[in-house]
Amino acid sequence: MFQLKWTNIQEKGVMNLIIPVSEDRNISDDPAISELVKKAKNFPEFKGEKGDELVFYDPEGFNIKRVLFMGIGKQKNLNFETLRTFAGKSIKKCIKMGLKEVLVQVPSVKGLQWEMEAMLKPLVEGAFLGNHLFDKYKQKKKYQPLGRIAFFVPRGSAKRHSKFVSKVCLVCEGTLLAREWVSTPSNEKKPEKFAKSIITQAKKAKLKTFLFDEKALKQKRFGALLSVSAGSRSQAQLVVLEHRPKGAKQTIALVGKGVTFDSGGINLKPSAGMDEMKMDMSGGAVVAGTLIAAARLNLKVGLIGIIPIVENMPSGTASRPGDIVRSYEGKTVEIGNTDAEGRLILIDAIAYAVKKYHPDTIIDLATLTGACVVALGEKIAGLFTSDEDLAKTIIDSGEKTYERCWHMPMPEDYKEHLKSDFADIRNIGSTRWGGAITAALFLSEFVGRTRWAHIDIAGPAYIKKESDYCGAGGTGFGVRLLTDVIENL
Ligand code: BES
Ligand code: ZN
Ligand code: ZN
Repeated sequence: MFQLKWTNIQEKGVMNLIIPVSEDRNISDDPAISELVKKAKNFPEFKGEKGDELVFYDPEGFNIKRVLFMGIGKQKNLNFETLRTFAGKSIKKCIKMGLKEVLVQVPSVKGLQWEMEAMLKPLVEGAFLGNHLFDKYKQKKKYQPLGRIAFFVPRGSAKRHSKFVSKVCLVCEGTLLAREWVSTPSNEKKPEKFAKSIITQAKKAKLKTFLFDEKALKQKRFGALLSVSAGSRSQAQLVVLEHRPKGAKQTIALVGKGVTFDSGGINLKPSAGMDEMKMDMSGGAVVAGTLIAAARLNLKVGLIGIIPIVENMPSGTASRPGDIVRSYEGKTVEIGNTDAEGRLILIDAIAYAVKKYHPDTIIDLATLTGACVVALGEKIAGLFTSDEDLAKTIIDSGEKTYERCWHMPMPEDYKEHLKSDFADIRNIGSTRWGGAITAALFLSEFVGRTRWAHIDIAGPAYIKKESDYCGAGGTGFGVRLLTDVIENL
């Protein structure tokens, strides 16, 4: 439970209090807290530098059981991400200490000249996301998330901003949904099951849902999508979610890659790290999480979520390198490599979005290429679009949410690499360089005239080691980003 709270600390007493401490400034309005900070800074090992931590138990003259001081560095370096990591780190520390509830002090908005909600948003995000544990497969749960997190704000502020806090929490819940799906192992999220799980959650959020099974997809001629699931015992699925509020001026289609496991198919991947390919449905999970958050927030934008779901496996029925398939859009595709499967399922989903919904904008999210991770590392997504306005909106949202995107080029002449001797196009480039770009160019052949952006999240979708406000596993990267984009398009 999350809430804003004002209380007289001295009179009422507090169980567990977290205080952010700046290196070079008093950032508290509350005299009791300022006094505590002074005491903490008397210890030479605690200066308020980023990373500094100090705990007081039963400080003399105060009715407080535990105070956790967390250094956040110099005032000039204070930004949204510092606040997010401060909150996430603090909550994680409290979880490890076995605490059940905590009061987090919100830095002074007056003193720092910040807007209250600009301050609250990253604090709530960091705390909410940092309070999540993925331990459903552990028989013994070592830690428990906190049951109650309250933010200490000046008198009168609590009521004014409580609705805003609930909204921030709703978006974070979308992120957590995505994280859970991504971290779930592939044997527990075969396409049929993953699709049903999305539909169940979406219905709870009052989204309109549609589910096409393999029979329906065959009938509708989703040839590229079906070619990927051919080797699996599981059937391909296409999930469609609709959020169409009255009076919406535009329709945005979000498309997400949903490969529940990517073995590579007949072009089998090497063993090292193959277990991580359970995360190859991250784009789909993020699209579902975003639609669910947007519906709960009642955003006044028409939204369509399209999630093609398959498992990419080798077998006697699998597609082979050299096979030629007919895509939903009509072009024939030569499968140069069965491991370039994401783009095959995406082109059918994108072509369907165009034909059925005529959206104003399409944004697809996919863990599409290892090449993108080579280019940008594990924390930044690759953004591909020829629409400068759309690029700016997405990049700005990326800065605000710290789900960062870097605008990549899509040179026309590179399309040459996608030529096939036998079909209309080939699913891999003829050179091994610029793989993230060729993948994006391949997709671009199926969007028609629709305004479109592709975000390659192969790097940031998943982390092997926990970070300040995320555990190891799925990160849910993209839910906060897309929600912000939708609100600003
Ligand atoms: N799912 C992978 C991409 C990927 C790689 C995601 C690393 C996350 C981390 C994708 O389907 C793939 O295998 N891409 C190939 C394309 C190649 C065959 C042209 C790749 O990147 O090697
Ligand atoms: Zn692959
Ligand atoms: Zn893949």
